[in-house]
Amino acid sequence: MKIVTVIGARPQFIKAAAVSRAIAEYNAAAQDQYPSIYEVIIHTGQHFDENMSDIFFDEMQIPRPDYHLEINSLGHGAMTGRMLEKIEEVLINEKPDWVLVYGDTNSTLAGALAAKKLHIKVAHVEAGLRSYNMGMPEEINRILTDRISDLLFCPTDTAVKNLEREGFGTFPCCIIKSGDVMQDAALFYRETAARKSDIISRLNLSAKPFALCTIHRAENTDVPERLATIVNALNDITEEMDVILPIHPRTRKIMEAKMLDTKCIIIDPVGYLDMIQLLEHTRIVLTDSGGLQKEAFFFCKPCVTLRDETEWVELVEGGHNTLAGANKLDICSAFLKMRSASPNFDRNLYGAGQAASRIINELFRLQ
Ligand code: UD1
Ligand code: UDP
Repeated sequence: MKIVTVIGARPQFIKAAAVSRAIAEYNAAAQDQYPSIYEVIIHTGQHFDENMSDIFFDEMQIPRPDYHLEINSLGHGAMTGRMLEKIEEVLINEKPDWVLVYGDTNSTLAGALAAKKLHIKVAHVEAGLRSYNMGMPEEINRILTDRISDLLFCPTDTAVKNLEREGFGTFPCCIIKSGDVMQDAALFYRETAARKSDIISRLNLSAKPFALCTIHRAENTDVPERLATIVNALNDITEEMDVILPIHPRTRKIMEAKMLDTKCIIIDPVGYLDMIQLLEHTRIVLTDSGGLQKEAFFFCKPCVTLRDETEWVELVEGGHNTLAGANKLDICSAFLKMRSASPNFDRNLYGAGQAASRIINELFRLQ
């Protein structure tokens, strides 16, 4: 079976790492002369800084991309369009059984669309998520990708229900609750991170509580007042504890352009192992990231989400996460509430770390 994997943005490297490892394990167990599963990786180039891309391939031992398209830093149309054109060329050449796409970025949509028009089967990992906010580019990408996917791997029960509510049961596709590949990654790399990452001592964080924060969502960074309000709220929170902010290049550019003053400890984006160590040691997470909301749960840390809605509603329902939007009062009071909250983290919401092997088995079964 031949799979072409299309990835391009940071969270996709982390998700694909879990599946590539499951492929390697499957091939090793089969002990055939040739690999049972042959994976070809296309990196669209959407994320390209060393610490937004290469570091994940190195630390997580993701096979090097077979194709690097180097398409980035463009508007949505140009970026998605150029990716579509280049991915199509590769797919015509490679003729895979499946194209595997992850999440909700422009790379996801381009990969799915290129494959579908060539009548190549599409499998979508992290299918069925919805924010119900069509102002988000991610919501458009995920709805369109889901609609043209043949195999939809849902991380949660909510994701399955979302698809059923949209009538996916009547489309010619197969919906599978696989669990979440980010849970697989967190479980697998936790021990390596404890051994290899020295970020806690490097940043001198062992003796005092700190909050871990990330911001990159377009709806926050592209609206100057929203970003200014969030930074203002974070500045207040620094009165209580340090706020560590590994800053996304998008956010850095805008904060510098708008000359926003911050009292947070700003660091460059870190690799996955450092990030796991920060998650292990933080008191609380403040974020607009999709992935980080779940990782806060994996590492038993309360989370304040700097958005008006979330796709990961089970965390809000369970009291693990609170939505605070970009309102200063709401962020500060959510921080105070969540700082001392003790929700029940002993719940299996995202699977037991077997999502990637389930995905591989289903790709085989349905090829
Ligand atoms: C993208 C995804 C978003 C995902 C996020 C993960 C889309 C529409 N958005 O948003 O869903 O949550 O990735 O992080 O696909 N940049 C650099 N260096 C890099 C990467 C980006 O300087 O390594 C700059 C780009 O030049 C651009 C800006 O950051 O100016 C935004 O990058 P882009 O990939 O368009 O969107 P993200 O905000 O990263
Ligand atoms: N992450 C990382 N280094 C950082 C910031 C985030 O390794 O400096 C990881 C984070 O732990 C999670 C993933 O990147 O696994 C989330 O990606 P991001 O927030 O960029 O995108 P989203 O999940 O919102 O699509």
